[in-house]
Amino acid sequence: MAVITFARDMPSEKEISSEAARLHDKLGSLGWSLEVCRAYAPLTLEINSLKKKRNAIVLAHSYQTPDIIWGVADFVGDSYALSDAARKTDAKIIVFAGVRFMAETAKLLNPKKRVFIPSLEAGCSLADDITAEDVRQLKRKHPGVPVVCYINTSADVKAESDVCCTSSNAAKIIRALPGRQIIFIPDEFMAKNLEKETGKKIISWHSRCVVHQDFDERKLAALREAFPSAKILVHSECPPAVVQKADLVGGTGDMERFVKSSDASSFVLVTECGLSDRLRFELPNKEFVGMCALCPYMKKNSLALILEVLQGLPQEKEIALPEEVAQRARRALEKMFGLSQS
Ligand code: 13P
Ligand code: SF4
Repeated sequence: MAVITFARDMPSEKEISSEAARLHDKLGSLGWSLEVCRAYAPLTLEINSLKKKRNAIVLAHSYQTPDIIWGVADFVGDSYALSDAARKTDAKIIVFAGVRFMAETAKLLNPKKRVFIPSLEAGCSLADDITAEDVRQLKRKHPGVPVVCYINTSADVKAESDVCCTSSNAAKIIRALPGRQIIFIPDEFMAKNLEKETGKKIISWHSRCVVHQDFDERKLAALREAFPSAKILVHSECPPAVVQKADLVGGTGDMERFVKSSDASSFVLVTECGLSDRLRFELPNKEFVGMCALCPYMKKNSLALILEVLQGLPQEKEIALPEEVAQRARRALEKMFGLSQS
């Protein structure tokens, strides 16, 4: 663990014990001992104290590790809910414990705030696989066809698109657009899944999520046999053959809502492991079985990096976007909010 320098006096034994107990209450069920929680307590105390001092919030995606989610996050959710939280916050500083496209989206939606990303390595295989020029070429090839970009794209790509979407509203947004044809970028599997769901003809790009592309329908079939009463919830970035076996297809927000309102007691969440870790704690009466995988990008963030950002507000970790790009990208995002709330 990183060496922590304290901006204030070292926390007292009483403060450390009480913070360790708070963390253990949250993390104990995930196997964190009180001793480990004590070791983390000075770090979470310092981060939470700096947040107050700087009028900062930490927004965390559900794929973040439990120490971030339960230790320092002010808001946890899916891409849509986090964007909405970023848009509405009064805090001066947003530390985005997620990946870069999420932090860029926060900056686009609330440009007066300072937005920081803890790890410069927190990219995304989808967002990093398509450029603005690729989109311009697609538009030249298919003139007049509306372009829907998944939120997992850079600001440059959003700026070339007509409307943005997230996993939770993609089908609604595609249905709301005129015409039978849509350009949907950049996720190839999601495009195929949406084509089936919406009945529209979808022209797609060839990118894949490195986490969701590898889920295997044969393993899922075996799980179905082993746990016949479990509900199978599949992220829409998964291959169509996996999606076909699902009781629900959608984003992490859809999965969370399904589990929370379902009478079923066991679930297979075919997505990144962070979501089942989180729901396992929140819903101790429900059982989460089977498959999940780790996102190497999401897992680049850490408490130590969050602390570093809050201490020094380093320029290289602050999101800055050219105004001309930002204005056009913001239009695609605002259109998404308009269509998804209508
Ligand atoms: P959600 O909006 O479903 O949380 O998706 C984010 C993501 O990156 C999925 O891999
Ligand atoms: Fe990108 Fe996939 Fe990681 Fe989500 S899980 S951030 S889509 S690489």
